[in-house]
Amino acid sequence: MNEKNKRTHYCGQLSESNVGEEVVLMGWVQTRRDLGGIIFVDIRDRSGICQVVINPDRLEAFKKAEEIRSEYVIAIKGRVCLRPEENVNPKISTGFVEVLCEGLDILSRSKTPPFPIEDNINVDESVRLKYRYLDLRRPKMLNNILFRSRVNKAIRDFLSENGFIEVETPMLTRSTPEGARDYLVPSRVNPGCFYALPQSPQLFKQLLMVSGLERYYQIARCFRDEDLRADRQPEFTQLDIEMSFVDVDDIIELNEKLIKYIVEQATQRKVDIPFRRLTYKEAMDRFGSDKPDLRFGMEMVEVSDIASKSEFKVFTDAVKGGGIVKGINIEKGGEIFSRRQIDELVEKAKEFGAKGLAWISISPEGVKSPIAKFFAEDTMNELLQRMNAKTGDLLIFISDKEKSNALSLMGQMRLYLGKTLGLLKKDAMEFVWVTEFPLLEYDEEEKRFVAMHHPFTSPMDEDIPLLETDPISVRAKAYDIVLNGTELGGGSIRIHSSMIQQKMFKVLGFTEERAKSNFGFLLQAFEYGTPPHGGIAYGLDRMVMLLLGLDSIRDCIAFPKTQNAMCLMTGAPAEVEDRQLRELHIQVKI
Ligand code: AMO
Ligand code: AMP
Repeated sequence: MNEKNKRTHYCGQLSESNVGEEVVLMGWVQTRRDLGGIIFVDIRDRSGICQVVINPDRLEAFKKAEEIRSEYVIAIKGRVCLRPEENVNPKISTGFVEVLCEGLDILSRSKTPPFPIEDNINVDESVRLKYRYLDLRRPKMLNNILFRSRVNKAIRDFLSENGFIEVETPMLTRSTPEGARDYLVPSRVNPGCFYALPQSPQLFKQLLMVSGLERYYQIARCFRDEDLRADRQPEFTQLDIEMSFVDVDDIIELNEKLIKYIVEQATQRKVDIPFRRLTYKEAMDRFGSDKPDLRFGMEMVEVSDIASKSEFKVFTDAVKGGGIVKGINIEKGGEIFSRRQIDELVEKAKEFGAKGLAWISISPEGVKSPIAKFFAEDTMNELLQRMNAKTGDLLIFISDKEKSNALSLMGQMRLYLGKTLGLLKKDAMEFVWVTEFPLLEYDEEEKRFVAMHHPFTSPMDEDIPLLETDPISVRAKAYDIVLNGTELGGGSIRIHSSMIQQKMFKVLGFTEERAKSNFGFLLQAFEYGTPPHGGIAYGLDRMVMLLLGLDSIRDCIAFPKTQNAMCLMTGAPAEVEDRQLRELHIQVKI
């Protein structure tokens, strides 16, 4: 066969409708089987696999076929025919046909790969990452990459259709205000000076609003030097959006349409909009988290008022000290959990940091509980009623003098129970907006207020007077979009009035000089006519991970880093030559 033969079809495309056609296929050898003088080769390309049959009467092709091994790259020419009935494989799309080989070329040879190129292999992730180019040949990984590309296309289609302009912003820039540690790049031509890689395009997108672009988006690479987890990479991708002359509702409504479009284009699933909305306060009070997983109920119930009527000192002290008591009704929990398993729940709560976990089991014989003796009958009845308790249910309670502790501990218990009871269905998609985040939080180390989102986030209009009197209770025009308990994205309406910006810097304890030196260029730009504006950024890797039901964002990034921020394939980060360091005016001290 002549190497110059052009490929006519993709392997996975062939079907009964091609029977009788002369085709040329090119791809990798998945398997080669020698069956009594006939050689069967499965040839694979991006589209799938096709079976090729090489008979010994095709002398030349047969000789070459005897030589080939897994992952050799070959070209074959032949005629498509129906498989004999006993050879039909209905599991693959090309399973009814095969190609009778007339010519075969070996285009390149392959060493034996370090792991088989197939799904469901049992091999350490570090080996997969070292040979990522082979890992990406596996159908599942290839599918993740193709899926991600479909998501990107859907994003671009929707946003350009809706009047958004894609703009690239610099990678070599100044520190941005997201608050993680920066990756720094030394400047050769400006000794002693460093660029920061962007943690997000935040300041640039706001500047583009000052420029009058009105609607901007970018699929932007961001860099944050922070501790890594399964859903965090040092370099990750954001879908970044900014709009002018909008309020929170405009942004939320547009983004619901965008998410619906993405999911429906990239998957077979339907998405109903509008999504639910919870204020930050509701989310914390009812679910103990600012990223509530709404795939299941099991809401937390406040029982401080009733608990303080009991004689149980733990509860009464907590409430007297300004704290709260929160309960959860685990429906039918009394029947599901044995006494030993209830003790394990108490241990789990302690592992999370609770001082204990009180419980009440509603058995058919009556209430069983280590704390029942501290409750008068009336008070107990009131408690059961508040908790909507029925026979068979198990009630659990956590109290703490710090309200936020009680909420987050109970939130962790709720999630733990959801997991243990199998309520976190992978194919469910529960979107929720969390709105009205606090503008500020108190940094105990620095002994000052810091912005919860960033210093340009606008306070809610009605809370502006509180900036001077009660800063911690000021709510922001900030929102997160949460999917199944993971934060997919977040954003805010920005401050466009210099008077409010100054107030904000004042609460944050920024001197005018510091504000100028950090963000002077932005503040200066704002002096030239700033439209009201706001936006959002999604973690694109996370979005793809969740839509595919993956456990790690590494599985939808072509070349990811490990938990130690290393690339096992290229060996980055690596030492560099002295000459390079000298040019950069850098001396390494370890
Ligand atoms: P924020 O800091 O909330 O907002 O980031 C937006 C989204 O980016 C994703 N994300 C990450 N994904 C993977 N690895 C990481 N290390 C990582 N860090 C963040 C999350 C998060 O929701 N400039 C603002 C947005 C705005 O105000 O418009 C910003 O960057 O999914
Ligand atoms: P004790 O009197 O310390 O043995 O506690 C009685 C019950 O109250 C035990 O089941 C403890 O786990 C529980 N308990 C202790 N501290 C707390 C707390 N802060 N919140 C809820 N339950 C608690």
